[in-house]
This record gives sequence, C-alpha cells and structure tokens, in this order.
Amino acid sequence: MTTACAPGKVILCGEHAVVYGRPAIAVPVTEVQAQATVEPARDGRGVVIDAPDLNRRLAVRDADDGDPLARIVRLALQAMEVKDEPDLTITVTSTVPIARGMGSGAAVSTAIVRALTTHYDRWLSSRDISDLVYQTELIYHGTPSGIDNTVVAFEKPVYYIKDVSCEIFWVGRPFLLAIADTGIESPTREAVGDLRRRYRADPGRYEPLFDRAGRIAVEARAAIERGEAEKLGPLLDENHALLQAMGVSSPELDRLVVAAREGGALGAKLSGAGWGGNMIALITEDTRGCVDLALRLAGAVQVIVTEVK
Ligand code: PMV
Repeated sequence: MTTACAPGKVILCGEHAVVYGRPAIAVPVTEVQAQATVEPARDGRGVVIDAPDLNRRLAVRDADDGDPLARIVRLALQAMEVKDEPDLTITVTSTVPIARGMGSGAAVSTAIVRALTTHYDRWLSSRDISDLVYQTELIYHGTPSGIDNTVVAFEKPVYYIKDVSCEIFWVGRPFLLAIADTGIESPTREAVGDLRRRYRADPGRYEPLFDRAGRIAVEARAAIERGEAEKLGPLLDENHALLQAMGVSSPELDRLVVAAREGGALGAKLSGAGWGGNMIALITEDTRGCVDLALRLAGAVQVIVTEVK
C-alpha cells in the first residue's frame, strides 16, 4: 500500500489577467491536503477509484476520458509505460475545499500521480507531474492557465506567465495569510468564460486592468523576495479593485474583504476565479485573532491561516 499527498493553493495576485498572458503568483496551502492511497486488488476489475469526499466511486475502464479522475490515472500509467491495466484500488480523500479556488482538482490529481509513481517505484519530476495534471485541469476549467497544477506539483510559491515561464522564487521573510471561505461555489469555468465574452466584446476596457494586475504581480514578487511582505498590503487591495472592475467579485467576497481590513489586515482581495470561493488577507501574529473574528462575523464559513515561506 502506498500513500501520497498534495497541498491546496491560493492565488496571491494576478488571477484572470494570467489567462491573458500577464504574470500571476500562487502559493501552496499545506494546511489542506489531498491524499491518495494505492492498494493492489485481485478482482480483475482494473483500476477502481474510491473518492468518498468527492462522492465518487468508479472503474477507470468504464469511465470516459472526460472524467478527470480516470484521465489522470490513464495518463500516469502511460507516463510510466505500464502497458496492461493493473488491478488497483485508489482511495482518494481530501480536505481541500471543492470549487473554492483552492486547487482541489489539481491536488487530487497530483496526489494520485504521486501515489502511483511510488507504487511502481518510479520517479517523475515535478515538471512532469505538473504537465500531466494540466491535462485534467483542461476538464475542470476549460482554458486553464496552468498555474494551479504548477504551484501544487512544485509546492512552492510560483511566479507564472502562461506558456512563457514558471519560476519558483524565494520568500525573503515568511508571512501570514488568512484565507476565508464565502461558503459559495466559485465556478471557474463560467467566470473565466464570462469574462472572455465581455473581453472579446470590448478588449480596450479590460487590457489596462490586466496590465495593472500584471504589474502588481511583478511588484508583489519583488516585495516578497526582499522580505518586505507589509508592502503587499496595498497591492492586494488594488488587485481586488481591479478584479471588481473585471466583474468577478461578489457582494459576499466584498463584505469579507472589507471586514478583514477593518479587523486590521494589511490588505485583502478575492482569490481565484471569484463570484464566490475564497478571499485572502495579509495578517500578522498581532492581527490574526481580530481578523479571524471579523471574517467569521462577516459570514466566513471557514478561515484558514497559512504561512507563506
Ligand atoms: O481555480 P481558481 O478559482 O483558482 O481560478 C483559477 C484562476 C484563473 O486565473 C481565474 C483561471 C486560470 O486558469 O488561471
């Protein structure tokens, strides 16, 4: 029996603009994890995936290739050149909230690939794993930028430009983020598709928003590398205003963002595709308690604090 894990993630800045070629930053969130366990089976049923947290149990051979769980198993077996379908049971559990912009799909896929490579005593690089997981992100997200699979597979802060570069970078001084869940699903595919339609109708309106979001990612990376995380606060605030202008925020997200700032956060913004899902707030040990309380009073259904390091 082999077991492997993969973390969740949040986007620190640059979401949506990243789909249009601007840089974005994502960081892993190790406080939530997906876990996959591979066990040999003797029942001749091929690979069976049991994912109680996702409410799913399926035989890979019966699933079509539009099923992300079946696809990642097939891709991983192909990458390891396992020719005949083995008899295996893969049990998947996850504490990564689903459809909240925390990379649940990428975490589950990554954990499955890692568990299978361990089972077969094989090694795939983080780059290889990320590329395989990207194939399942296509199913979840339609036109994914690739940032989720990258940050989850590498488990490090990532500065990412679609189809151009993906750089792991150093954090000069660790800092804290509060991640608060609106309790509402964030429909990535719909939010990205809706913005795309509006962008196509009026590119001149959105290009400057994407440009500024991209510059924020550049400035944020520099501040993080220099260990000047407090400088991130105003950048997060400004990025939130840009996301509002892109039409991807929501009253619930805006309420949590305001509450976090009033509770003492140095800056706050929605994180991920928007319309629901999570927001993030830059906090310190001193403001942690007040911000947590303010977020819960403003309706957050869950608050996770993570250290970015
Ligand atoms: O899956 P989410 O909610 O973190 O959203 C992904 C971020 C987007 O920039 C909106 C889309 C993408 O593929 O990068």
